[in-house]
Amino acid sequence: MASAKATPDTLPAWQTLTQHAQAIRHIHLKNLFGDDPERWSHFTRHVAGLTLDLSKQRWDDDTLEHLLGLAEEAGVPGAIEALLSGKRVNVSENRPALHTALRLPADAQLEVEGEDIVGAVHDSLAQMERLVQRLHAGQWRGATGKPIRHVVNLGVGGSDLGPLMVTHALADYRPSDIHPVEVHFASTMDGSQLADYLTRFNPETTLFVLSSKSFTTIDTLSNANTARDWLLGRLSRHAEAGEAPQAHTISAELVVRQHFIGVSASPEKMSEWGITPDHQLMFWEWVGGRYSLWGTIGLPIALVIGMENFRALLSGAHAMDTHFKTAPMADNLPVLLGLAGIWNVNFLDIRAHSILPYDGRLEYFAAYLEQLEMESNGKSVTRQGQAVSYSTCPVLWGQLGPNAQHAFYQLLHQGTQPVVCDFIAPLKRYDEIEDPDTRRHLKAQHRLALANCFAQSRVLMLGDDALEEDGPRPEHKRYRGNQPSTTVLLDKLTPATLGALIALYEHKVFVQAVIWDINPFDQWGVELGKQIATDTQAIIEGEGELARLDASSRGLIEAFWAAEQTPRG
Ligand code: F6P
Repeated sequence: MASAKATPDTLPAWQTLTQHAQAIRHIHLKNLFGDDPERWSHFTRHVAGLTLDLSKQRWDDDTLEHLLGLAEEAGVPGAIEALLSGKRVNVSENRPALHTALRLPADAQLEVEGEDIVGAVHDSLAQMERLVQRLHAGQWRGATGKPIRHVVNLGVGGSDLGPLMVTHALADYRPSDIHPVEVHFASTMDGSQLADYLTRFNPETTLFVLSSKSFTTIDTLSNANTARDWLLGRLSRHAEAGEAPQAHTISAELVVRQHFIGVSASPEKMSEWGITPDHQLMFWEWVGGRYSLWGTIGLPIALVIGMENFRALLSGAHAMDTHFKTAPMADNLPVLLGLAGIWNVNFLDIRAHSILPYDGRLEYFAAYLEQLEMESNGKSVTRQGQAVSYSTCPVLWGQLGPNAQHAFYQLLHQGTQPVVCDFIAPLKRYDEIEDPDTRRHLKAQHRLALANCFAQSRVLMLGDDALEEDGPRPEHKRYRGNQPSTTVLLDKLTPATLGALIALYEHKVFVQAVIWDINPFDQWGVELGKQIATDTQAIIEGEGELARLDASSRGLIEAFWAAEQTPRG
């Protein structure tokens, strides 16, 4: 274990902030606005097509100065340099966390421990591009010779959420002049999503992408095994019936070869499973699963939006990386966003955080951030292995803001929990709609969504004061306000601005991890669950000792056996 170092809560700036918070925590947001007519410009920055409005945080200029002091004392500038230059910042796994290298331009230079990272990254992108081109040209044919129409990504966590979120967000950017390939996602180990596809798709024209960094994740492998057996069963029956032109040539090997692409950091395991080497896309151990959409795990994204748009996504993220590296801390978006979070969690005791996009295309953004933030920073030991004595990652959840208005906003407005909200919306929308009437209607709907977005953050801030005085109101119709929020406006939702937005949150998570002195790049907390599940599965199958489990677990398993009418154990 490394030698103990000063914990963040003993740093001078942390002490100052604790005292400062005593004074400011009783000041209502409406008064902070009343005291400073320039508050919007003081706390708003514009970078890479994003406007970050932090003026509705419950802080003032002094708070920010102290927080910037904390960032300095905690070593944020040095940590940014260490991250981006490929130092082994993932201490528990003793490796770099180089997702930012996946979006470096081809002419950039980054050598890490003697390896040319940029060259390797661009080789892997080129290999991915070749596969995408074959599929887009209708040249990738299934075992019976028909071009592939459906691609199903089998992956979970980082091997699912990033591609799912981005393909949904950028579906408008689908190239028009390609052989149509539809992309789908199956992640859950219970097989529900996959079962649906298997009833609807033709095996002859369906390709599976087996996406797993480790290639050991049971969720993904169980889906993959079911898919393989479905293909083998259906295609060999097809061959027996003599429907295929070369019926006699449909071997298991051909089926697996033509219907599976593997994406993993383990080529050996891909080969063991049966993926042919030229259908294997590689990435590296130094790319964390939840940070991996920028490389070959992004294959479904490239299939939906095309390689050119995929590269624009990378360049937007790279613009944010460059800003993160070079901007002074007081103007650095990820630093400011991270500090706002630290202020809320550690000094205002606000430990619930809601993500509220006002654009249907960002439907999966909250789910994506839940993994990014909580799997990264849901930690309670420092990088040196000591228990922390302060709060770390808040509970994060969300959904599309307009829908959440009719669901959980009641709690935001009148519940007892302080919650910080992130509102996210594009400024421009629907300009490309050709039909003038439809465009007019849809643009009006966009304005309606923006009006709701801006109104909600205003009411959360001001409470009753947002309304003209309309006489006395009973207590149940009163709003206390003072709920802080951040608003992120995208000039327009494009591959580049989405790339910048995701990178903004990735780096925010990193800044917070540095201040909390935790490692955001491991996830040991999920390992125990995996181990115990293997054990429990053996017992469910009648191969383990039921009696050594607790009464609840025994009862649940017996209920399952009773339902199956197969008493065991
Ligand atoms: O169980 C959590 C996790 O390890 C995530 O961190 C990861 O993104 C996901 O599982 C999937 O892992 P893999 O890509 O190795 O299948």
